Amino acid sequence: MNAKTAILAIESSCDETAVALVGADGEVIDQQLFSQIQIHQAFGGVVPEVASRSHFEVLDGLVALSLEKKKSLNLELSAVAATCGPGLIGPLIVGSAYAQGLASGWQIPFIGVHHLRGHLASTLLRGSIDEPALSLKEKAERIFPAFVLLVSGGHTQVLHVAEDLSAKALAQSADDAAGECFDKAAKLMGLPYPGGPEIERIAAELSEADRVPAMHLLRQLPRPRSAEGFSFSGLKTAIRTLLEKNPELARTPRFCFAIQEAISESLCQGLDRAFEKSDASAKVQRLVFCGGVSANRRIRQRLQEWAQAHQLELYLPALKYCTDNAAMIGAAAWVQAPSLAMKEIAARQAL
Ligand code: KG4
Ligand code: ZN
Repeated sequence: MNAKTAILAIESSCDETAVALVGADGEVIDQQLFSQIQIHQAFGGVVPEVASRSHFEVLDGLVALSLEKKKSLNLELSAVAATCGPGLIGPLIVGSAYAQGLASGWQIPFIGVHHLRGHLASTLLRGSIDEPALSLKEKAERIFPAFVLLVSGGHTQVLHVAEDLSAKALAQSADDAAGECFDKAAKLMGLPYPGGPEIERIAAELSEADRVPAMHLLRQLPRPRSAEGFSFSGLKTAIRTLLEKNPELARTPRFCFAIQEAISESLCQGLDRAFEKSDASAKVQRLVFCGGVSANRRIRQRLQEWAQAHQLELYLPALKYCTDNAAMIGAAAWVQAPSLAMKEIAARQAL
């Protein structure tokens, strides 16, 4: 019997060094992660040069751990994949040059992956969609074409995405991304980076008695829009102004709840406008919500309601694959390299 094959994937676009082994069916065989959050917290944000050096220091060790796993499972590597952009240029060069070196040394293909394609592919991993009999390429053909709301720390976009994960932008933010709005609001309240999970955690503590004051605060926050689709800088300014006038609101469940609601409403309203405007709306039957902010349970619930109201089937990445990770890069690489996927399907059929 042929040895099981996997892609070794590396993600290093920002402040996390991640390595994964991903099977052609979307099984995440191994994951190694080093987060630099504590290193950057001292500076109040990610310092690109510090990030590059840290990726460089830990990558070798993380890959060695994945290779031990590969050896113990007698896996064969089909390719090495790495994020090639967008992201911080130094960290991207460290990860992708390292991956190209491995691929060339082992004489297997190197697959460069667009980070946002990785987020799209996170929906295809085992644990996100459980169809063990299907390859990632087959799963991509099942979900896409679809409407996608992709919301991360750097992007807020509505896309029309085809089966090969190629995307056409239908709407985007004219200024800040929604994740950035969470992060900046958190910083203004003295909460650590990344702010989204912190605000979600505190908002979940809202008591019944606090619900009316929270709704009152929500009414004071704007839902800005822009010709491009979304806008979050006005909301950020309103959060700052409210905090300057009422510093006691910082870190309270009522204020965190209001911020989370205002962001989720802005996302749904932007999605409404993009959907109404698009010719594709008649033909598409599925909605995908991905990117770091898709880890927010309240926003996942709002999107579920939105999808139901528009008779669309919603696909979400498993919570563990929403924020940056290497498994999603491996998944995108499998979809991106049809010849590798076809070889895998043929090998499976021959068994
Ligand atoms: O996709 P991602 O990990 O990195 C980028 O490609 O930007 O997204 C990070 C963003 C951050 O802004 C972070 O605050 C936000 O995703 N985020 C969340 C949650 N988890 C991460 N926002 C809201 N609620 C969450 N649970
Ligand atoms: Zn990301």
